[in-house]
Amino acid sequence: MTEQPLASLLDYLAEVGYGEVYLNSAGNSAGEADGRTGQTAPAGGQRAAAEPTSRGAEPSAGETAEAQAHASLSDRAAALAALAGEARSCQRCRLCEKRQTVVFGSGNVGAELMFIGEGPGAQEDRQGLPFVGPAGALLTKIIAAIDLTRDEVYIANIVKCRPPGNRDPRPDEVVACRGYLEKQIEWVAPKVIVALGRVAAQTLLGNDFSLGRMRNQWYQLHGVDLLVTYHPAALLRNSGYKRPTWEDMQKVRDRLRGTG
Ligand code: URA
Repeated sequence: MTEQPLASLLDYLAEVGYGEVYLNSAGNSAGEADGRTGQTAPAGGQRAAAEPTSRGAEPSAGETAEAQAHASLSDRAAALAALAGEARSCQRCRLCEKRQTVVFGSGNVGAELMFIGEGPGAQEDRQGLPFVGPAGALLTKIIAAIDLTRDEVYIANIVKCRPPGNRDPRPDEVVACRGYLEKQIEWVAPKVIVALGRVAAQTLLGNDFSLGRMRNQWYQLHGVDLLVTYHPAALLRNSGYKRPTWEDMQKVRDRLRGTG
């Protein structure tokens, strides 16, 4: 990897909340060992700023293949970092006028599971990270319920800037922002996407159906399995949605495990 993509990768990781990034002895960022795990630093890992470690012998074929897999993950992270940088100064729609930050997305670039919400709320707008308010706390629990952590999934929104007063994003705003999401899906390349709530589901599926009509069936989006469930904010308003959401997440867990 050249110096520039590494710098972009580090910027990106810092942007999505990883204050310190570690390199393992092969020079890969921590948590990329199997390409799908979180980004927690291993004990004894080296800071990225540290000098690269030297390797004595020539790499074996297996090591080379592994290094290529890592390089491609790193390249995808670098590409996302560059896009996040571009989004930071985006003026493609009126939402740029009142935003405090652009909430690009966060999580593991090698995630098997991607959540897509509607758009940032007030706290997300302040912090620059998706789902950090009350709905986000519930999303964290929903993720934990299927034995995953936020570091193991990728979280994004349909629009990257807060619609004033948390109104629904308007069609032209959705269109203006769509390119960012398409690239996020392409580069994360998850196995399963969960659309959170009506607005996300209608946008991704290109319809105007009710949430109830869209639930309970698998869709394909760019070859990725997609399931629709309730938005966590809806669960905060109506606890009756918790059980069906849990049932949806069990389907997601089974699909990820290859048993559903
Ligand atoms: N609701 C969303 O749809 N996205 C967020 O990031 C926060 C709340």
